[in-house]
Amino acid sequence: MTRILGLSGSLRSGSYNTALLRAAAGLVPAGAKLDIATLHGIPLYDGDDEARTGIPPAVQQLKERIVASDALLLVTPEYNNGVPGVLKNGIDWLSRPPADIARVFGNRPVAVIGASPGGFGTILAQNAWLPVLRTLGTRPWFGGRLMVSRAGQVFDEAGTLADEKVKAQLQQFLRGFVDFLQSGR
Ligand code: FNR
Repeated sequence: MTRILGLSGSLRSGSYNTALLRAAAGLVPAGAKLDIATLHGIPLYDGDDEARTGIPPAVQQLKERIVASDALLLVTPEYNNGVPGVLKNGIDWLSRPPADIARVFGNRPVAVIGASPGGFGTILAQNAWLPVLRTLGTRPWFGGRLMVSRAGQVFDEAGTLADEKVKAQLQQFLRGFVDFLQSGR
């Protein structure tokens, strides 16, 4: 069984990105499982807190969930044409201490998708993650792309993915990512 851990970069209960992640969990191909992780409970990074009390429990638990998975799926909002601070803060905490980066992120396959109510579907945020993923030594998968634009029309009131075309795109993306994870190419 191939295990993917999905992380939404939004804390909002009505988040389009979390809705996209939920939809993805229901569309992964047989032989793979997508578990959903959250950034709720992760404090703002403060080096003084780290020096005083170490890695917060929510961060440590998330690190171990990543380590126990075969791959990471980041579902990113776009803020001001860049990465959202909430998700960057989470990744920054997860990169502490530096001696643990290789265990948590090193060579770990990572895919990035995202949803936005605008017309470009997080394309700039997805690009902006690239230097971070490179710095952490991950193995990003570039075999597919998914930018969900006009998210307000793609999800219904309950946050269910209602657009058949986007559903097919998501399914194809996941198929490609899982093929990569299972075959190494
Ligand atoms: C946004 N939003 C936004 N959208 C976009 O496509 N490009 C952008 O540059 C921005 N910039 C931006 C900045 C800030 C501070 C906020 C709060 C919002 C809109 C954003 O895509 C929208 O709020 C989404 O709904 C956020 O994702 P979730 O919470 O629905 O997952």
